[in-house]
Amino acid sequence: MADRWSRSRTGTPVITTSRVPAGPYGARITGVGHYVPDHVMRNEDFEKLFETSDEWIVSRTGMRERRYASAAVAASDLATSAAQPALLNAGLGANDIDCYIVATVTPDYQFPATACLVAANLGAVGKAAFDIEIACSGFIYALPVAASFIRAGIFRRVMIIGAEKLSGITNMTDRNSAILFGDGAGATIVERTDFEYDCFLACELGADGTNPDLLRVEAGGSRYPLTVDSMTANRHKMFMSGREIFKYAVNKMVETSKIVLARANLTTDDVSWVIPHQANRRIIEAAAKRLNVDRAKVIINIERYGNTSSATIPIALSETIGNNVIKDGDIILFTGFGGGLSWGSVAWRWRS
Ligand code: ACO
Repeated sequence: MADRWSRSRTGTPVITTSRVPAGPYGARITGVGHYVPDHVMRNEDFEKLFETSDEWIVSRTGMRERRYASAAVAASDLATSAAQPALLNAGLGANDIDCYIVATVTPDYQFPATACLVAANLGAVGKAAFDIEIACSGFIYALPVAASFIRAGIFRRVMIIGAEKLSGITNMTDRNSAILFGDGAGATIVERTDFEYDCFLACELGADGTNPDLLRVEAGGSRYPLTVDSMTANRHKMFMSGREIFKYAVNKMVETSKIVLARANLTTDDVSWVIPHQANRRIIEAAAKRLNVDRAKVIINIERYGNTSSATIPIALSETIGNNVIKDGDIILFTGFGGGLSWGSVAWRWRS
């Protein structure tokens, strides 16, 4: 039946459609997958580029290596390689997914959206697809978006993919930031379930754009279009004020974690796993300590992949599911922060 326009009692036009089934439904994760490129960039490799050491990088960040994609590989390729095992894991085909969401700050193009390219690569025809750009908070924002679509009855299955080729925007002459970032992608399929089995417990998201120069790629957008001068000055590469972000990150991860746990009527004792954004081991450990969460419950894989921005959490989730340590009923706390600045946490009950 066709959509119908009507007017509310206040005269505001409202759209009603019989195609959107009445909710409420629940949301559940039914498939995960991840992909990282083969090429390993070790701490020692940076010693050839600027004055640094393996000892400094490990002690200040917890990172030992990260993966770099080759020049010919774009974010959509990484995303597609993560989406394929997620589909297999869920026992689904590309056309079973109603909506593809890619979280990325390293899209293939300014437009079209990388999600459109990924859906096409997978063989999906005519499915909804769009990108979310909120830096390292990408997955933390995308998960509630996907769950909300599903709970509202708009889509039955949504795939969210965090995919980044950060090596392409890393300033390899800046030792403050170059050591931190890597490439990779993680995919998660969120599916409709009965409301009584809903896994989405609570979320808290936030942002503060008053100080964008703390972490940004300055040139290449409509404010500062690419010019020979801006490229020569490396203003098309990432710039970061690490020390300021460090403090902000710990505070926001702790604050939003407490909010979502309270909202879900949980305490930190109820949390089975914390899957945090992997930006710095010291940030993660400081947040876990302030939350009073046992270190054994905190998933950290930063030593192998570094910071892959919106991909860190879905990669860590995919690896952890693959290790069979998450059990039915476990409470997972996702928490992260990133450029914007932006931040958020999500409480999720695991059901297989
Ligand atoms: N090797 C050796 N020395 C270094 C290096 C390096 N790679 N990098 C910096 N240093 C030096 C600095 O120059 C400084 O020297 P100085 O005292 O002579 O000036 C000294 O080490 C200490 O520098 P700090 O910045 O104070 O070091 P800190 O302990 O804060 O660690 C780091 C730096 C790792 C960047 C940390 O601040 C951090 O992780 N910050 C958060 C980064 C982050 O999470 N970013 C989010 C990005 S996610 C996104 O949205 C894309």
